[in-house]
Amino acid sequence: MKKVKFYPVKGYIDFQRNAISNIESFWEKEASKLEWFKHWDKVLEWEEPFAKWFVGGMLNASYLCVDKHLYSWHKNKVALYWEDEEGNTKAFSYFQLYREVNRFASMLKNLGVKKGESVVLYLPMIPELPIAMLATARIGAIHTVVFSGFSSKALADRINDTSAEVLITADLGRRRGKFIPLKEIVDEALKVAPTIKKVVVIKRTREDITIEEGRDFLYHELIKDAEDYVEPKPLESNHPLYILYTSGTTGKPKGVVHSTGGYLVYNYATYKWVFNISAESIYWCTADVGWVTGHSSIVYAPLLHGATVLMYEGTPDYPDPGVWWRIIEKYGVTIFYTSPTAIRMFMRYGEKWVKKYDLSSLKILGSVGEPINPEVWEWYYKHIGGERCPIVDTWWQTETGGIMISPAPGLELIPLKPGSATLPLPGIDAEVVDEEGNPVGAGIKGYLVIRNPWPGMLMGLYGDPERYKEVYWSRFQGTYYTGDYAMKDEEGYFWLFGRADEVIKVAGHRLGTAEIESSAVSAPFVAEAAVIGKPDPIKGEAIVVFAILKEGYKPEDNLKKEIINHVREQIGPIATPEEVHFVAKLPKTRSGKIMRRLLKAVIMDKPIGDITTLEDEASIEEVKSVYEEFKQMMKEV
Ligand code: WTA
Repeated sequence: MKKVKFYPVKGYIDFQRNAISNIESFWEKEASKLEWFKHWDKVLEWEEPFAKWFVGGMLNASYLCVDKHLYSWHKNKVALYWEDEEGNTKAFSYFQLYREVNRFASMLKNLGVKKGESVVLYLPMIPELPIAMLATARIGAIHTVVFSGFSSKALADRINDTSAEVLITADLGRRRGKFIPLKEIVDEALKVAPTIKKVVVIKRTREDITIEEGRDFLYHELIKDAEDYVEPKPLESNHPLYILYTSGTTGKPKGVVHSTGGYLVYNYATYKWVFNISAESIYWCTADVGWVTGHSSIVYAPLLHGATVLMYEGTPDYPDPGVWWRIIEKYGVTIFYTSPTAIRMFMRYGEKWVKKYDLSSLKILGSVGEPINPEVWEWYYKHIGGERCPIVDTWWQTETGGIMISPAPGLELIPLKPGSATLPLPGIDAEVVDEEGNPVGAGIKGYLVIRNPWPGMLMGLYGDPERYKEVYWSRFQGTYYTGDYAMKDEEGYFWLFGRADEVIKVAGHRLGTAEIESSAVSAPFVAEAAVIGKPDPIKGEAIVVFAILKEGYKPEDNLKKEIINHVREQIGPIATPEEVHFVAKLPKTRSGKIMRRLLKAVIMDKPIGDITTLEDEASIEEVKSVYEEFKQMMKEV
């Protein structure tokens, strides 16, 4: 492995120590790089575990992402390029984006949306999605984007938690030459999500969508009455910018709430450090805007910096596995940010697809969402980056709001080590601890925690401060628990090993076992279900369901298929189970909790470990024999 550049270890350590011991002055300096309508009175109000950053300061996200650029040469440069899988394209200059955002904001106001209200955005990867987010922020409303790959149950659960009254959707989303009928999914969800009073539908190509009078409105009709300018509302720094739902360890998704000031300051600073982003960058993040990566990397951070963002509505291998490289060549992408799953897939297709295209515009490559295996890192470095581009393996979470552990080429800190996310960014006091919360030594696996507040951190979980305290701040006193396993090596570099809780990462997408279990159990013939993640060579993890059938049903293959389809229809294609196994009993503790760890040990052929709390040993024997039979069958196939 070539090191692109050696980083000054000593310099980093001093810099970091200084930042951590003076977090207020450190972050205040970063905050003053943004334009505020009113200066803050206090940098940090820390009532553990609730942080308020830049208290009393007034700003507006939409103003900073669009209006601000009208006063410089950025005004007529491209803010957003968009392309879909059929090759349709659009481009918006900052001025055009400003116009669109204002008109959208005016439409929201005409619909009666007020400051502090939630607006649900269930939209595919089309320019109207970032426009809607910025428009919502402009008037001080709070956007809740629901990933358009989620189906009706997942959508309904999220709507019900926010109690939003307005939802924006489209007639369809595109995927591999087919279309996803988003409006029909909304109709289905609204049967059980009654708070929504108004639905705005962005019509792309379909003529056959049904419109419910009084509830559904067509965007192109409403927008005719919109004004060209809406004043960006000055908002206090701790006014929520958005709620984004993420899967946790219960069936109910968590509404992670992010602030305006802290979130923007954190993302502005870290995208400079990590990606060295500037107005000259052509920045392409392949995530969907429906995930936190898309919020920070497609919308807020690049636009704050006046960069040119590329938004692509499509999959990595349709119409062929060269499509992403063609796009990099076509637009001269300088920063490319994707997931290990995608890179693993490209590795499998081979270099021939990459070689056809000129990727010499690339300067920095990023990876996010799951651990990247060293051999995949090497492939990415060599074949995509031509051994010129540092790879920033960025560790972060929906909750952290921005990148926490990563190389930082923008600070000339490029400690590359394939497979390691390297070092915490300045101001982030990350540590690896044991069960008691004590730091473990080098080379020992433990839990990743963060020991101080940072501006990007979540303000809490929507409507549930107790759950916020319990999930993140109760496991180890006074520290933020990430839910991840990690290790530090001799040089202090961090290595991430995936989740320590009941969260699975399928192709980098975060899914809770409990949410999938509750969907499986809602199939009419399923009595109980347990879901675990199984290592997958491409997707990182794949979903495996163990289910108990209700009386009178036989464990037949067609029922397995039905469970698979049922979960897929309810939650979405990303949650499609890979395997379903029927058992008569699930391994449980005496208090009735499913011991997923035992199921995992069986399918991974690992020692079962301690079973003193197991209620019935026969259950695990049954799982073993069912799984043995399955393996045998797979061999024969
Ligand atoms: C995992 C995505 C290893 C981790 C931004 C974390 C990673 C979860 C990395 C959050 C990385 C994210 N290396 N693991 N570079 N980045 N993760 O909320 O388990 O969708 O807790 O946010 O992804 O997933 P989320």
